[in-house]
Amino acid sequence: MASYGLGSVTRADGTVARVDAQALESQALSAIEAATTVDEVEDARVRFLGRKSELKLALREVRDRETGMELNALRVAIEESLERRERELTTAVLEDADFDVTLPGEAPPQGQLHLVTQVRRAVEDSFLGLGYEVREDREVETVEYNFDRLAFPDWHHARSPRETFFFDERRLLRTETSPSQIHLMEEREPPIYAVSIGRVYRRDTIDATHFTTFHQFEGLAVDRGLTLADLRGTLRHVMRALYGEERRVRFRTHYFPFTEPSMEPDVSCPICDGVGCRVCKQSGWIEMGGSGMVDPQVFANVGYDPEEWTGFAFGMGLERTAQLRHAVPGIRPFWENDLRVSRQF
Ligand code: DAH
Repeated sequence: MASYGLGSVTRADGTVARVDAQALESQALSAIEAATTVDEVEDARVRFLGRKSELKLALREVRDRETGMELNALRVAIEESLERRERELTTAVLEDADFDVTLPGEAPPQGQLHLVTQVRRAVEDSFLGLGYEVREDREVETVEYNFDRLAFPDWHHARSPRETFFFDERRLLRTETSPSQIHLMEEREPPIYAVSIGRVYRRDTIDATHFTTFHQFEGLAVDRGLTLADLRGTLRHVMRALYGEERRVRFRTHYFPFTEPSMEPDVSCPICDGVGCRVCKQSGWIEMGGSGMVDPQVFANVGYDPEEWTGFAFGMGLERTAQLRHAVPGIRPFWENDLRVSRQF
């Protein structure tokens, strides 16, 4: 038998056969090439390299070095061919699957909190740091809680249906978070340190800085011996938590029905640090809302003894806070549902 690699196999029946290495090689390689699955490659491995394969049996009978090297080279060629084919087939499976399972996955979009919610949480954090209770109150109020018990005089413009959304003569959408003060004082005994956060409604004409709905946070402290200095220190803590440690706070006298004296707190402009810029209209100060010492009449309205208890209160806008913290021009972007605005924060 013509053969280029010489080898012989002793068959089970005892006959000795010579191995044609070249024929075996081309037979093995074409079988491997023809395999279309990884399992078929495995079958070919058993058939050509298995314990009972012609090649393994021939290798066992090798007598001379040359034949040994020849058959070993054949074994290596078959092994390489098996590996290559197996690799090809596994890559094909991955490609068929249309994605590379070894790459990190694409995270589904998660969205994010609305800027007003983010700022609301920052406000909550700053008050929790002072030991305040954080709460929410009703948005549908009565004239009694929104105005009467807060000592609004009869002539006050906010009582007009031109400014306030009334359901009927008795009920309305709250125009401020201040009625929370009455609910708080009715619900419990002093000392009270609490902040109430939520939506308020006004019949304002919508423009760059006005919207019919917005958010306020309302603080109330009732204890013995509180003074304007406590109010000022509290506001300074909150302003610094919201706008940075360098912020200063100043008071301008004002009028609110339920505080005496009443103050409008200003914070030194966080944009220019008080030097004067477009945002603070060159004044160096930003108006933050209203505040003051709780009016003795309001204590009397909830049955607290004004001789025993003192208190301070303040109310500010959340949208305004968000605007200042993130240089948002005007209030409308918060309500227009344009995701391009939200995605920036
Ligand atoms: N409720 C007032 C407003 O919406 C703001 C305000 C002023 C709240 C003085 C207070 C306060 O608690 O003491 O304009």
